[in-house]
Amino acid sequence: MVKIAVLGYGTVGSGVVEVIRTNQDVIGERLGEELCIKYVLDLKEFPGDPVQEIITHDFEEIVSDDEVKIVVEVMGGIEPAYTFVKRCLEAGKSVATSNKALVAKHGAQLQEIAREHNVNFLFEASVGGGIPILRPLRSSLTGDVIEEIAGILNGTTNYMMTKMFYEGADYDEVLREAQANGFAERNPEADVEGYDACRKIAILSSIISGKQVDFEDIYCEGITKITVEDMKYARAMGMTIKLLATCRRDGEKLNAMVAPCLLRAEHPLFAVNGVFNSIFVHGNMLGDAMFYGSGAGKLPTASAVVGDVIEEARNLDRNLGVMWTQEKLALEDMKEVERRFFVRMKGSLETMRRSVDDAFGAVQYVRAEGLEDEFGFVTEKMPEGAYDAKAESFRGQIAAMIRVEE
Ligand code: HSE
Repeated sequence: MVKIAVLGYGTVGSGVVEVIRTNQDVIGERLGEELCIKYVLDLKEFPGDPVQEIITHDFEEIVSDDEVKIVVEVMGGIEPAYTFVKRCLEAGKSVATSNKALVAKHGAQLQEIAREHNVNFLFEASVGGGIPILRPLRSSLTGDVIEEIAGILNGTTNYMMTKMFYEGADYDEVLREAQANGFAERNPEADVEGYDACRKIAILSSIISGKQVDFEDIYCEGITKITVEDMKYARAMGMTIKLLATCRRDGEKLNAMVAPCLLRAEHPLFAVNGVFNSIFVHGNMLGDAMFYGSGAGKLPTASAVVGDVIEEARNLDRNLGVMWTQEKLALEDMKEVERRFFVRMKGSLETMRRSVDDAFGAVQYVRAEGLEDEFGFVTEKMPEGAYDAKAESFRGQIAAMIRVEE
């Protein structure tokens, strides 16, 4: 029998208990022994819930219990999660977590501590919820150099973008709906400002580079400025707008970004709608692959955590390796990254065409139905720094700029 403890009985913690209890027999058969939850740590009591029998409020009870071989951390946030995880690893227990904030900030160090103690620190659920993406990167694709990752990594904002695109729904209205469906972070700012997706792409960037990519270094723009008018232009161009998290090799450099982007209908992420997540991966040998599924929610996230627990139970006293070191990677300056830009300009196309052509060169103009006192255009590919310099002379007239994903 392998005994485990669960730190936190919130949405994901209760999901982990449910997955293990529901699939107890099949998990036992596949593992070759029973997986048993000995403790659940939480500040609260749960009268009437069978979990009450194994609730403890004392972390010391768990960390000092040699019978507990694996600890699930699903409390969220940095502290006390970081201290608890570190102490469990140092005590020779493997840890599985869904906590992207913890992994993005301390993942390299915690993997190193796990290696020193011959245990494991796994975190599949921290990116893409229930979608298997980290394990494929760590195992199936280890023979490849990953040149590009482009992901829809936040279910809440994808739900909002989908409703705004297909139903012309208003931003505030869809945010309220998204919160009501239970996928949003406790503080919805983390979703709509892109912070949640930013931590996830920081983890993916660290994995594919083997070095620490700090989320603070990644350009991060949320969806708060996206309007139904922007969606009208997208439709007029046969495109849509998605909050994308991207990471690309550019020669020796790596760039990463979170921002709303225009996607053409042929793009593999165009049809990823609602709360679903998807991660497009391009490897130098593999070519293209795409991972799609439930990126948020209680049971999908818990399913990924339990997958890690089972892998750890199969590898007690055998470290599976570290995915990246603490050596920091400096990202390519955003201003150097080349792309096309969609611009919404206030004023009349007839009177402004000349000055726009003079500043931006060959652009493609677009009009959106019902929007009379403005027009849009898409530039040629240029470094973002060059775009900024050209846009400077139209300050006050540019109503929106959205990057185009090729
Ligand atoms: N708030 C997140 C989302 C949950 O909407 O995707 C999963 O990290």
